[in-house]
Amino acid sequence: MAEEKIALVTGCDRGLGPALADGLEALGWRVVRCALEGAEKAAEPDGGRAALRMDISRDDSVRAAAEEISRLIPRLDLLVNNAGILGDMEKTLGEDIDTQEILRVFNVNALGTLRVTNAMTPLLIRSAAPVVLNISSEAGSVGTCWRRGWWGYCMSKAANNMQGAIAHNALRPLGGRVIQMHPGHMATYMRGHLDETARFTPAEAAERILRTLFSPDLKAVDEHPLFIDLDGKEMAW
Ligand SMILES: NC(=O)c1ccc[n+]([C@@H]2O[C@H](COP(=O)([O-])OP(=O)(O)OC[C@H]3O[C@@H](n4cnc5c(N)ncnc54)[C@H](OP(=O)(O)O)[C@@H]3O)[C@@H](O)[C@H]2O)c1
Repeated sequence: MAEEKIALVTGCDRGLGPALADGLEALGWRVVRCALEGAEKAAEPDGGRAALRMDISRDDSVRAAAEEISRLIPRLDLLVNNAGILGDMEKTLGEDIDTQEILRVFNVNALGTLRVTNAMTPLLIRSAAPVVLNISSEAGSVGTCWRRGWWGYCMSKAANNMQGAIAHNALRPLGGRVIQMHPGHMATYMRGHLDETARFTPAEAAERILRTLFSPDLKAVDEHPLFIDLDGKEMAW
């Protein structure tokens, strides 16, 4: 019998996180679900299954979760850094830009991803071919930037892409890789209300993301990480 594959997904309170965890489980993976609120909220009917508490904005929370996880699983084959926050979308140059809020967004979207990947590295390198899937965004593409605001979100996702590139350089000699992914415009509560202008439900996006991730057409590991959308189309950095 083939060895069970093990994944960890952050941000499993709501939105894309639980949809990816469900999709992986449907494919036979064992999934460790992590969530900001932990078991209480994530066990609610629409919140996915029980999850471990992991606040990716805090060193102590990530460290404590990592210790617990290392007692639960022998290795990690796939780490999905999904948790993220949006921040202000309105303020443009010359307006009252809240730099403290930008720092909070940066701390979750850029540093949070690094915290989790770093804490999970001892488990990742026990896998023969570990994959880190960072849920980034088209908003992190410097080359195609069109917004006049969204400072925290766009800057933090661009930084997320860079930390992914550095992590890729460190993991590749150990047989691993990092993939940066734009998950598509999804109908989630990230904006504080259900985004009904979105193209995909989280479940639809998750299905396409996993199809792309496990496709035989996925580009082989290369010097640089892939930056692709949910259907595998390459994105501009
Ligand atoms: N929605 C889109 O159209 C879109 C487009 C491009 C990229 N993305 C990216 O896709 C990912 C998932 O977004 P989503 O649309 O599913 O948003 P969402 O519904 O708001 O889900 C985000 C998840 O991250 C969690 N989270 C927030 N801060 C956290 C922290 N400090 N520690 C741990 N978990 C934390 C949230 O927990 P709580 O619910 O408890 O706050 C929630 O479970 C994000 O990285 C986002 O940037 C989304």
